[in-house]
Amino acid sequence: MAREARVLLSRNRGRLKLSTSSFGGEADAPPMLRSLSSPALPAAEAPSASSTRPSTSAEPFGMENLALPGLEAPKRVPLPPPGLAAAALASAYIPLALRDDLPRDLDGLGAMVAGCRKCGLCETRTKTVFADGSPLSKLVFVGEAPGRDEDLSGLPFVGRAGQLLDKMIAAIDMKREEVYICNVLKCRPPDNRTPAPEEVAQCRPYLEQQLALLRPVVICALGLSAVQALLETKATMASMRGKTFSFRGIPLIPTYHPAALLRNPGLKRDAWIDLQRVRDLVRSVG
Ligand code: URA
Repeated sequence: MAREARVLLSRNRGRLKLSTSSFGGEADAPPMLRSLSSPALPAAEAPSASSTRPSTSAEPFGMENLALPGLEAPKRVPLPPPGLAAAALASAYIPLALRDDLPRDLDGLGAMVAGCRKCGLCETRTKTVFADGSPLSKLVFVGEAPGRDEDLSGLPFVGRAGQLLDKMIAAIDMKREEVYICNVLKCRPPDNRTPAPEEVAQCRPYLEQQLALLRPVVICALGLSAVQALLETKATMASMRGKTFSFRGIPLIPTYHPAALLRNPGLKRDAWIDLQRVRDLVRSVG
């Protein structure tokens, strides 16, 4: 063998070793801690913007469309952070079943929510906000809680954040009417403050029943509050995004809340990575 050929071969062997060893990690994790699908690299490991950003591509929801070469290949599967473990286990392993204490149809559930007086938010709300979109959709977006525009209209995500969500949905080639959109809380917290734990605890059964009735293929949780409420965890967004979790057997992909993207457009790059994974999961189920 010519000397150059031998050198090339040994270089490639070295590369092969490197890439296969980087797959490690998943097999060592208990099943409930394993992500459901091969996730993209965690943010800290993602290639830098300059290395992945094609210069000419269009912008989905106001950012460069990242083709993300290299992110499509299987990557080392990150383990959930320790803080997430117990909660993720609970959520992942209790199968999502219909509750007997709540209506077993979405209209009935919505009507019950409209009359709910289980927490103080009923005193300040204008309208309850149950959902928008198609109950037949494979994809459900779950936000935090209604804001002012939603409280007035009775529909989720109709304000500025909602307009951005519409663009995010369009970026994955879907229409708002083709997805299902709801929130953890069905009533607006005054001044749009973060939902209190008691409010989440009172409202969560409605969301669980909603999701049990919908049985989506994918849940995309928008923002830290939604992710924390669904997975019953206090883990940070930085530690969770980039991974796929299980909400009672349904793949759950966390991403940034559109309001956070409006405040910090630099986050749109990661959100777009998340949305592409959402899109691919939806498409993978025929
Ligand atoms: N933010 C949310 O989390 N939900 C809405 O419906 C609107 C804004």
